[in-house]
Amino acid sequence: MLGMSRRELLLGSAVTATAFAGGGLAATRANAADMRLPISALDHSILPDTVTKGMMGFGTGGPAPILRMRQGERFTVDVVNDLNEATVVHWHGLRVANEMDGVPYLTQNPIEPGESFRYTLVPPDAGTFWYHPHCNTLAQMAKGLTGVLVVEDAEDPGFDQDLVLNIRDFRLGSDGQFLKLFKARNAARGGTLGTVSTVNWEVAPTYDLPAGSLVRLRLALTDVTRIGTYSLTGADARVIALDSNPLPQPIAPRDLVIAPGQRADIALRVPDAEDQTVTLSLRTQKGPKTLATFRPTGTSAKRSLAELKPLARNPVPDVDPAKAETVEFVFGWSPQGDAPLPSICGTLGYTFWSINRVAWQGDVPSPIDPLAVLKQGKPYILRFRNESPNAHPIHLHGHSFKLLRSNKRPLPPLVTDTVLLQKEETLEVALIADNPGDWAFHCHVIEHQKTGLTGYIRVEA
Ligand code: C2O
Ligand code: CU
Ligand code: CU
Repeated sequence: MLGMSRRELLLGSAVTATAFAGGGLAATRANAADMRLPISALDHSILPDTVTKGMMGFGTGGPAPILRMRQGERFTVDVVNDLNEATVVHWHGLRVANEMDGVPYLTQNPIEPGESFRYTLVPPDAGTFWYHPHCNTLAQMAKGLTGVLVVEDAEDPGFDQDLVLNIRDFRLGSDGQFLKLFKARNAARGGTLGTVSTVNWEVAPTYDLPAGSLVRLRLALTDVTRIGTYSLTGADARVIALDSNPLPQPIAPRDLVIAPGQRADIALRVPDAEDQTVTLSLRTQKGPKTLATFRPTGTSAKRSLAELKPLARNPVPDVDPAKAETVEFVFGWSPQGDAPLPSICGTLGYTFWSINRVAWQGDVPSPIDPLAVLKQGKPYILRFRNESPNAHPIHLHGHSFKLLRSNKRPLPPLVTDTVLLQKEETLEVALIADNPGDWAFHCHVIEHQKTGLTGYIRVEA
């Protein structure tokens, strides 16, 4: 069981922060946050000629605002819960202080309807990140609550502009209304897919871009389920970063397998002529499906990819694997199949999955023990063993890790926060446990996350 005094202390301070953010009469300009981020229910048109009812959105209506921060600089955001259910917001990939990580009970109390919570974020790394609720996560994300967060590089690499692409599905019928958000038999397998592919809440949008210019496309895969294969065709382009971390060797944007939670930054040299359109597509059984089109406009700026400065490496500490202790995690079926405990953050009613043979009970005030306790400042190898015939994008909060090796495939030396573990694969990653606290650790197929494939890792001094 958890040390209650520590948890009380932690939740106590969260309550203070809520009261402070609520402000009321005491609020003055001096303590206004950099941003106010309301969350509310809304109706919005996704499919032509229909209005989807019962969506949820960040901001003032429509797709989520892009949050822009600067590397190493403090950013405060007041999340205001205008829903009629509890929520909490997590900043996926940001290595922030544990009490700002937005996980119910592990790091803060859920934000009740009508309440607000001030998050103070000091992002150490630059790149493309995203944000989403961590309470009633399947319903809230499926209904729209996924947004992109950009941490600007300290030194500008030389793009003319960037363009954020929030890529996700919605599960809608032909009348534009939500279908049942999941099916239990799918939750026990690969997950329940959406029916409508969108980019920034639009079906196959076209973006006009200045001909011959250099554009940084920031792809964030924020779907609850889909592991997709994506290609950008029709232009000179290179993948320059994955999951916010620069690639030592940029690669072609062809057949990129990207899982829920992952990101890809692509340097695009827009073609010279207006009829040379560029296409972002998703591989399907029926062939490539266009997700977005990019159309050159005007006379060519005649720029070249060679003019871009390489992205600076993020300050993620290096690990000497020879000095690291190995910690094992096994991802598999839930041994009992018990129902999860009731929670104000919702349950799907089943546990199908487990980590180290323990199914997460749900988001409850006294969570089960951590899966591992790591010593702050020490190097570790985490060994992920997938016993199941399904792939799992495994995500750790509060840390980035380096891919080391797999029993199935060569792994590039990438630094990431979310790795796609293939079926029956054993894969090792390395990290320095440098951020103290209780860090959520789960599959990012949200039906898996919500039916047992969740736990947390404690880093203690
Ligand atoms: Cu993007 Cu714990 O999640
Ligand atoms: Cu996260
Ligand atoms: Cu999974």
